[in-house]
Amino acid sequence: MRILTGLQPSGKLHVGNYFGAMEPAVRLQDEGETFYFIADYHAMTSTQNAEELRKNVRELAIDFLACGLDPERAVFFRQSAVPEVNELAWLLSTVSPMSLLEKCHSYKDKIANGIHPNHALFAYPVLMAADILLYDSNRVPVGKDQKQHLEVTRDLVGKFNEIYGEGILTLPEPIIREETGVILGLDGRKMSKSYGNTLPIFGEEKPTKKLIMRIVTDSTPVEEPKPTENSTILALYKLFASEADYATMIADHEKGGCGYGDLKKRLAEAYWDYFAPMRARREEIVADPGYVDSVLAKGAERARGEASRVLARVRSATGLR
Ligand code: ADP
Ligand code: TRP
Repeated sequence: MRILTGLQPSGKLHVGNYFGAMEPAVRLQDEGETFYFIADYHAMTSTQNAEELRKNVRELAIDFLACGLDPERAVFFRQSAVPEVNELAWLLSTVSPMSLLEKCHSYKDKIANGIHPNHALFAYPVLMAADILLYDSNRVPVGKDQKQHLEVTRDLVGKFNEIYGEGILTLPEPIIREETGVILGLDGRKMSKSYGNTLPIFGEEKPTKKLIMRIVTDSTPVEEPKPTENSTILALYKLFASEADYATMIADHEKGGCGYGDLKKRLAEAYWDYFAPMRARREEIVADPGYVDSVLAKGAERARGEASRVLARVRSATGLR
């Protein structure tokens, strides 16, 4: 079984990215052959600054390795290190109905927010489909927000194979983690860079803990029981705490007597401890600058080998060879 996913290099990694994408990706290394890449082509739909792109790619590579990506097991590479993906994207675009792409939320949302869409933004799901299909991926772990892009990918496989032959492209299955499908941000909405409500995973200690202290709560007095429904503190604490500590936290909400300040402090400690081993590993990686380059170079070579095998099959099926 081949598992593939891509992550955009778009700034500081936050808790939503970690539980929505990285942590599941790291666990899946035990379940199949994994292909993980840094989606730098996709990032160009939002970043058009060369220095920033280079820096973000490097930071993401370091973060991913620090979080437990094992380059001996996973094929870890930059999307642009395999430019063949553009050829497959072109071939897929010849079977992509305009109406299908016009329905995509990510594109429609951008337009609704007044962003002038360019062709890359419109074609984004087609390139994403090419990312997946270029490696005969069977499973694609993603957050809920990418579900529609997986549906587009599966649609395109159907259309392509109907024209060029069954089994030419491999039909992927999404893996969408429902339980932690959407991680809440500090204001109770979905955690997202675009809402400015994120909790970074590799932030500085003081400023990050301060962010936690600023979580929005109601005005229940200290001595009274605190609501446990729709509590941002509890939703986040559940991610970092043991079951027993979580149960204690619930009990302390219910019995009253604990102020929100105390409850937030407990959350801040649990958060800090949770990421401690990863923070330590990150420091080791940063201290050895050649390491990341060599990991990505080796990953790119393995990925290109696989891509050329799939492309040869597709070229021959389509009449390009
Ligand atoms: P952002 O919304 O902050 O811009 P991205 O869109 O770059 O985050 O998301 C990168 C990855 O992290 C995607 O796989 C996405 O599904 C996942 N992700 C982002 N935010 C969350 C969240 N709040 N809950 C669960 N997964 C998330
Ligand atoms: N669009 C994805 C995101 O923003 C990143 C991505 C690009 C991806 N290509 C992919 C994810 C292929 C899974 C498979 O999160």
